[in-house]
Amino acid sequence: MSIHSQAKKITTHVLREMKEKGEKIAMLTAYDFSMAGILDRAGIDILLVGDSASNVMAGHETTLPVTLDQMIYHAQSVVRAVEKALVVVDLPFGSYQGNSTKALASAIAIMKESGAHAVKMEGGAEIKESVIRILSAGIPVMGHLGLTPQSIYKFGTYAVRAKEEEEAEKLKAEALLLENLGCFCIVLEKIPAKLGEEVSKSLKIPTIGIGAGSGTDGQVLVMHDMLGISTDFHPRFLRRYHNLSEEIDKAVKQYIIDVRSGDFPNEKEQY
Ligand code: KIV
Repeated sequence: MSIHSQAKKITTHVLREMKEKGEKIAMLTAYDFSMAGILDRAGIDILLVGDSASNVMAGHETTLPVTLDQMIYHAQSVVRAVEKALVVVDLPFGSYQGNSTKALASAIAIMKESGAHAVKMEGGAEIKESVIRILSAGIPVMGHLGLTPQSIYKFGTYAVRAKEEEEAEKLKAEALLLENLGCFCIVLEKIPAKLGEEVSKSLKIPTIGIGAGSGTDGQVLVMHDMLGISTDFHPRFLRRYHNLSEEIDKAVKQYIIDVRSGDFPNEKEQY
């Protein structure tokens, strides 16, 4: 029996065991009660209340505008639906950078007000103090290296990160730093597959890749992208498992026809 099916709840400890046994970890984003319930019942290991809510829920171009209160609202909705998955919540832009006291307050607000199980933070050495402080309060931290979307204006591009030796070496060192600080897991976003595998092999904690190749310990996708709800995002790493936007379009068009023609509601659909 797999470790996932043996576990009653997915914890940071279970994830570590999954890595040790070579069992891949499946993670998706979720932002609302109904979808989170479907994903949890389907057997997902980790639900990430990502700051991608800024894009897919609120329609912003970047992840920067989403606020701490909005993240807490999404996290509360997800937590209410979940029975087994580990729920991780992104600390949004501006809630932790450059101020470890504020970082701890933000992480505590998320944990206390939403009931989530862990927080995720983007960055390496520059967020060390914040990571230490949050961990000291007993809050599990998931790291995030490579293409970190909260720094998009610094990068100036969504292109693959760490292709050059210098940035790759920095990423390897920062992954080790995050592990040594006590992070339970690290997301590796949009880096060469070879580097993703090398970093994953060098760490005891699991890595979760998004555009980081098949050598990471697990994979994450934004739920709207993998289900084909969003249609205008086509990075190479994205596999679409469904075309939900087309299905919804068909259903809504049929509904409109039925209402206009008087076919809906029929006799059985009324009191
Ligand atoms: O916010 C998000 O959805 C993320 C994933 C892309 C890892 O951080």
